[in-house]
Amino acid sequence: MARDRSPAGLVGATPQQPSFEITFDGRPITTLPGRSVAAVLWSAGILAWRTTRRGGRPRGAFCGIGHCYDCLATINGRPNRRACLVPARPGDTITTQEGHGHAGLAV
Ligand code: FES
Repeated sequence: MARDRSPAGLVGATPQQPSFEITFDGRPITTLPGRSVAAVLWSAGILAWRTTRRGGRPRGAFCGIGHCYDCLATINGRPNRRACLVPARPGDTITTQEGHGHAGLAV
């Protein structure tokens, strides 16, 4: 399994490489290599991709450096991934995470 990159490693996209597409809740989003999932969502005007366990309040990125855990998302079916640290890859499927993220899993 590929390791998440550090925030320093996520600085700057690489526009000389071809763009690719990911989806967020079924919505296609075109982006460039070198961006975190959070950066891709921001660039598409999406500011919230999680709801809190209590009250279902919307959350997105807050610290942007992997400390606050506000940016948790379900990425390719795996919940509780920090979107600010996970590099976006072609074909990624991002879905809004509700609560603790395990409601849809058979565990
Ligand atoms: S925005 Fe704080 S951990 Fe990702």
